[in-house]
Amino acid sequence: MERVQRSSLLVVLLMALGLSLLLLPLVSVAAEAPAKTAPSLTNDDCVKCHAGPPAAIAADGGKHKNVGCRDCHSGHRPASKNNIPECSQCHMGKPHFEIKGCLGCHKNPHTPLKITFASNLTEPCLSCHTQQNAQLKENKSKHSALGCSTCHSMHRKIPECLQCHKPHATTMVNADCKACHKPHMPKVVTYADDIPSKSCGACHKKAFDLLSSSNAKHKIFSCAFCHKEKHKMIPQCADCHGAPHPASMMAKYPKCGECHNIAHDLNHWPAEKAQKKEAPKETKEMKKKKK
Ligand code: HEC
Ligand code: HEC
Ligand code: HEC
Ligand code: HEC
Ligand code: HEC
Ligand code: HEC
Ligand code: HEC
Ligand code: HEC
Ligand code: HEC
Ligand code: HEC
Ligand code: HEC
Ligand code: HEC
Repeated sequence: MERVQRSSLLVVLLMALGLSLLLLPLVSVAAEAPAKTAPSLTNDDCVKCHAGPPAAIAADGGKHKNVGCRDCHSGHRPASKNNIPECSQCHMGKPHFEIKGCLGCHKNPHTPLKITFASNLTEPCLSCHTQQNAQLKENKSKHSALGCSTCHSMHRKIPECLQCHKPHATTMVNADCKACHKPHMPKVVTYADDIPSKSCGACHKKAFDLLSSSNAKHKIFSCAFCHKEKHKMIPQCADCHGAPHPASMMAKYPKCGECHNIAHDLNHWPAEKAQKKEAPKETKEMKKKKK
């Protein structure tokens, strides 16, 4: 007897469970939507009336390809008036997801990686890129006042300096600029040893001309050989020459330049210059020789 009672209890339980499983969808549908057609829509139905979004997703949906239409759009009018999802339904827990106005950049959720920027954005970039902003803020320049997207008008696009600036010399091309300037700290001018002297000569014509017309051994060196690494660095003669003369002599003539003139124009004396006044003859003779 006990057995029968137990098994009939089991049957009753199973029946109850089955019934409630059967009723569950009806109950929830009834609560949500009196219109009976809406719940029967499947993802495959949407394209019958909406050609655009399925095509967009198929072409550029990215990872949204794996999200069904109805995962985002639950329900449909007229039963459900608002079936547009919030991004935060699925995207939470990163600083980037705290930004307001997702659709400002992700213009179309069906093509989420086609990103467009308004022209003066900085804050929203910082949810992913902090280093560049730190450089801009720690090394104040007129670039610090520009929005990131003023230069990077599209994501991952690198602008050319010459888009906005004139070069220092007509021979300079865009690739030359970065030899001296970093875009996020443009006033901190640094350069490598192999920077061509003519780049400096664009602004320092006098030094360039003096050095290249000099006859002394310094002539063969590039500007950066002496003015190392950082703009406005000035070397000491002793950095390279140590103490070439007896201390007694140097006590009397403490400045190298008293005898050697300046580094760009070594050993070039006013006396020599005076002599040069007679030079035209020589030059003519030299010209004759060349002919
Ligand atoms: C029988 C045609 C038909 C089918 C099938 C259909 N829709 Fe619609 N849908 C419409 C119409 C009509 C509108 C209203 C358009 C309007 O008012 O501009 C609409 C509007 C929408 C809107 C805009 C939001 C709103 O409420 O105005 C979304 C989102 C949408 N449908 C998603 C879907 C999805 C997802 C599917 C597939 C699950 C789907 N639709 C299936 C006809 C359809
Ligand atoms: C990841 C979520 C997501 C997915 C997946 C998605 N949508 Fe959308 N859909 C949206 C959002 C958000 C909007 C509102 C966009 C806006 O306000 O500009 C929208 C707008 C719409 C609209 C109305 C505006 C329009 O572009 O015509 C329709 C219709 C629509 N979706 C249909 C679909 C269909 C069909 C699918 C499946 C092929 C689909 N959506 C997949 C999020 C999604
Ligand atoms: C129903 C859930 C859902 C909603 C709503 C949703 N997304 Fe997504 N989204 C996903 C999933 C799932 C992924 C893939 C995530 C992953 O793999 O890490 C994704 C990925 C993305 C990606 C990266 C795409 C790629 O190919 O790498 C972007 C961008 C994105 N979502 C933006 C949005 C925006 C903007 C909205 C609001 C308009 C939104 N999503 C709403 C589910 C959703
Ligand atoms: C300022 C423009 C901008 C705004 C506003 C914006 N995003 Fe993005 N989002 C981007 C860029 C840029 C990427 C990087 C894409 C890449 O990797 O090429 C991205 C990537 C993503 C990704 C994929 C990478 C990841 O971290 O998971 C998701 C998801 C995403 N955004 C969701 C959102 C959501 C949700 C919002 C609103 C809360 C939002 N976005 C607001 C520009 C923006
Ligand atoms: C959701 C995160 C995210 C947001 C928001 C974001 N980016 Fe990016 N960005 C990335 C990722 C990821 C890369 C690829 C990084 C890599 O290749 O090392 C990238 C790459 C870049 C690159 C190119 C890097 C290169 O080496 O060529 C630039 C420039 C850039 N982002 C600028 C921006 C600007 C400007 C904004 C704001 C308007 C922005 N990003 C917003 C994630 C983001
Ligand atoms: C989208 C335009 C834009 C781009 C691209 C751009 N700049 Fe600028 N830059 C500016 C503006 C605007 C100023 C401020 C000019 C002024 O007020 O006279 C400026 C100023 C400067 C200054 C002077 C900074 C100061 O504080 O005095 C330097 C140096 C400079 N830019 C170098 C560069 C270099 C090098 C590049 C390429 C790596 C570059 N810029 C790319 C717009 C741009
Ligand atoms: C004046 C124009 C300008 C501004 C403003 C600017 N950038 Fe850049 N950015 C550039 C240039 C040019 C490069 C290319 C550097 C290179 O090739 O060495 C670059 C490179 C990058 C890169 C690639 C990685 C790197 O550091 O070289 C990222 C990421 C980036 N910028 C993000 C930003 C962010 C975020 C902001 C705002 C906080 C910003 N940029 C502001 C011009 C700018
Ligand atoms: C040999 C190094 C060098 C190169 C290469 C170089 N610059 Fe400069 N640039 C400088 C120095 C040094 C200054 C600062 C002068 C000062 O202190 O006033 C400067 C200043 C500037 C300024 C601000 C002052 C002005 O003239 O308006 C801009 C803008 C600029 N550079 C843009 C560029 C661009 C664009 C390129 C590439 C075509 C470039 N620079 C290449 C060294 C260089
Ligand atoms: C864009 C023009 C520009 C370029 C390019 C440039 N400079 Fe200058 N430089 C200047 C300006 C402007 C000064 C400041 C002059 C002053 O203060 O009298 C200066 C100052 C200097 C000084 C210090 C002068 C002093 O009296 O303290 C040195 C040294 C110098 N530059 C070397 C170089 C070298 C080496 C290069 C090439 C790697 C170079 N410069 C490229 C514009 C430039
Ligand atoms: C960065 C290193 C460096 C600096 C700084 C430097 N020199 Fe020199 N100098 C040299 C080198 C290298 C030579 C060539 C030595 C050789 O070939 O025997 C040279 C040659 C000379 C010579 C011989 C010239 C000739 O044509 O015979 C004199 C004189 C001289 N330097 C003086 C100076 C004076 C004065 C200063 C400071 C105003 C100075 N140098 C700064 C590296 C330097
Ligand atoms: C051999 C080392 C050496 C070379 C090469 C050299 N300089 Fe100099 N430069 C110096 C020294 C040393 C001084 C300090 C003044 C002096 O004592 O002659 C100086 C001073 C300067 C000054 C500030 C004083 C002035 O004359 O205006 C500028 C600017 C300058 N150099 C630019 C350049 C440029 C541009 C080049 C390349 C064309 C260059 N220098 C090549 C060693 C050098
Ligand atoms: C009183 C004048 C005088 C002073 C001051 C002076 N020199 Fe000289 N220096 C000379 C004479 C003269 C020579 C030999 C020239 C020759 O042999 O053609 C010479 C030669 C040199 C040479 C070339 C040596 C060689 O082997 O060719 C160097 C380098 C030099 N001096 C560096 C310096 C430096 C650096 C200073 C400053 C610390 C300095 N001199 C100060 C007069 C001077």
